Amino acid sequence: MQPIDFIEAKSLKAKPQDISNVSFGKLFTDYMFEMDYAPEKGWHGAKILPYAEIALAPSNATLHYGQAVFEGMKAFRSKEGAVRVFRAEDHLNRLNNSNRILDIPQIDVAFVKKALFKLLELEKDWVPSLKGSSLYIRPFIFATDEYLGVGVSKTYKLMIILSPVSAYYVNGFAPVKIMVEDKYVRAVRGGLGEAKTPANYAASLHAGSEAHKKGYDQVLWLDGVEHKFIEEVGSMNIFFKINGEIVTPALNGSILSGITRKTVLEIAKKWGYPTSERRLSIEEVCEAYDEGKLEEVFGSGTAAVISPVGELLYKDKKMLLNDGKVGEFSQKIFDYVADLQTGVETDSFGFFEKIA
Ligand code: COI
Repeated sequence: MQPIDFIEAKSLKAKPQDISNVSFGKLFTDYMFEMDYAPEKGWHGAKILPYAEIALAPSNATLHYGQAVFEGMKAFRSKEGAVRVFRAEDHLNRLNNSNRILDIPQIDVAFVKKALFKLLELEKDWVPSLKGSSLYIRPFIFATDEYLGVGVSKTYKLMIILSPVSAYYVNGFAPVKIMVEDKYVRAVRGGLGEAKTPANYAASLHAGSEAHKKGYDQVLWLDGVEHKFIEEVGSMNIFFKINGEIVTPALNGSILSGITRKTVLEIAKKWGYPTSERRLSIEEVCEAYDEGKLEEVFGSGTAAVISPVGELLYKDKKMLLNDGKVGEFSQKIFDYVADLQTGVETDSFGFFEKIA
């Protein structure tokens, strides 16, 4: 394995006094990791260095054509004070899947994990201890060729930055209002939908702004061909509890294979709930609502964790869920995941790896 160089910071930043006052993703730790890719050298130049701006040529290919991928993962502080990372290998394997889709060279997962753990060991004092807070980890890779022709870049940079965070949504665990999007689409099968790539987020922005103007927090995407089947929210996967069953759209190539989605399914199965990953139409959701069988809706994601949905709007049909309150299953799984994060609940799944 290649060495990891270290460049020491001249001074360190003050850490937040109260993490609950820190907005998601705006504060960064003292150090970051980077390495570069060139065809003749492979991934090389691994180093941990002070968090700082980076210089990019105006002709940088990513700025023009968006050949980039990223991940979102988290480290938590347990009640004993240990720092533990959640499903690091799953996230780095997913990064490689996004690399495959975007024609970016594969990373050596074992090496990047080692580099991440080294960075986390150095930055362990930044991991907050308040329940629900964490150190958000953002690995990303982008093309670095300086070239205006459209084509696969020959060179890349991988970076990992760290950000102490509390709740993703400003209202914390309060139920969110979601508008089912029936005009715009996020992705189509055969496209980039399964990749964690900036294009998917760019595709969501305009629809998101329109939803905000109408008083909704997020949009729920339908399939890009028929506008009929439920896909995902963009910042999270979506779950429905219908007549006792926990249902989420099957992975079909156009939605993100969420690690928290997988975690929710694993926990629900262990608890003995019937679960199903399948095609689910918006009509079926509306019918379940009309028949009183739509018991709960919630989102799952690394940043959002578990986010209860209090209202769904589809065309002019407003579906109020649980009187706008958090549903029983959503609360139960949120509490359980939070207790796993703090180590109050024993990690019988082997989700966490200890750093320090
Ligand atoms: C995550 O959940 O980590 C994501 O990458 C979603 C992003 C909207 C913050």
